[in-house]
Amino acid sequence: MHRLDGLSDTYSANIYCKRDDLTGFGFGGNKTRKLDFLLADALDQGCDTLIAIGANQSNFCRVAASYGVWGGMEVHLVLGGNRCENPTGNLRVDHLLGVTCHHVDSPDWDNWACEAEGLEKRLTASGKKVYRMPVGGSTPRGALGYVDAFSEIIADHSSLAVEFDAVIHASSSAGTQAGLIVGKAISGWQGQVIGVSVAKPQDEFRQDVLDLARATAVQMDAVVDPSSIVVDDGYIGEGYAARTAGCREAVEMFARRFGVFLDYVYTGKAAAALIDYLRKGRFAQGANVLFIHTGGNIELFE
Ligand SMILES: Cc1ncc(COP(=O)(O)O)c(C=O)c1O
Repeated sequence: MHRLDGLSDTYSANIYCKRDDLTGFGFGGNKTRKLDFLLADALDQGCDTLIAIGANQSNFCRVAASYGVWGGMEVHLVLGGNRCENPTGNLRVDHLLGVTCHHVDSPDWDNWACEAEGLEKRLTASGKKVYRMPVGGSTPRGALGYVDAFSEIIADHSSLAVEFDAVIHASSSAGTQAGLIVGKAISGWQGQVIGVSVAKPQDEFRQDVLDLARATAVQMDAVVDPSSIVVDDGYIGEGYAARTAGCREAVEMFARRFGVFLDYVYTGKAAAALIDYLRKGRFAQGANVLFIHTGGNIELFE
């Protein structure tokens, strides 16, 4: 956790950054928190083979592969996009891990899921016990990683002697936000969790978060208030992974002022939202705001 002094002083607020890019295993990021729960579930069920799905440069697949290898499992990644001659970024790490990559030449998530289902059937028929995870590992089990993270945030209130008014982060397959929302429900904290959508329009994505939060809450006997789900789709630009001017500015600002590296797909857009909210006075004077750095900066090496 760092206080971002430069931003805080400029805008008369207290801006903190939770460094989930430093969660460590498999180069870190928000996916390690989900994988802590997903890998445990896979091993508890006696599975010996892991299937993860994502785009060619998926952060989730990179971390899933690292966990699977560590857990002694056979790992298959179903990756949307062409096979690359010279893999870079996440793909380079996937190759180094020696896992099997199955490339699907389509941008459509449904086609990836279809390929993964077929693969699971083939592996099962050959005697493997398979644990298949959806895009982003956003299942009720995976979302528990961010229920847990939320309890850390509540503990931070005491250790920093600061109570956050808002938590802001990049949101895409809903697992991170659903977990935080359930954590909020359990704790009774009254602040706002703001999910900055990097792909989907607000109404559709709010429903995704609500559905997953409800399914996650059932495991904890908690109840989710639909009005607690706040999604902002104003920073997507032309689409998923399309670079916006605000995102470029945020990536440069964080690097040059704080020595913190964001990425252009997720955290850069969430930071662009944070900066814009500060400029527009959308947080009250003196507000305590927590920006969660969810990782993904391996993208800088693509
Ligand atoms: C770096 C990074 N930040 C944020 C997210 C969004 O998290 P979620 O998919 O849980 O909404 C992702 C998802 O891929 C990610 O890779």
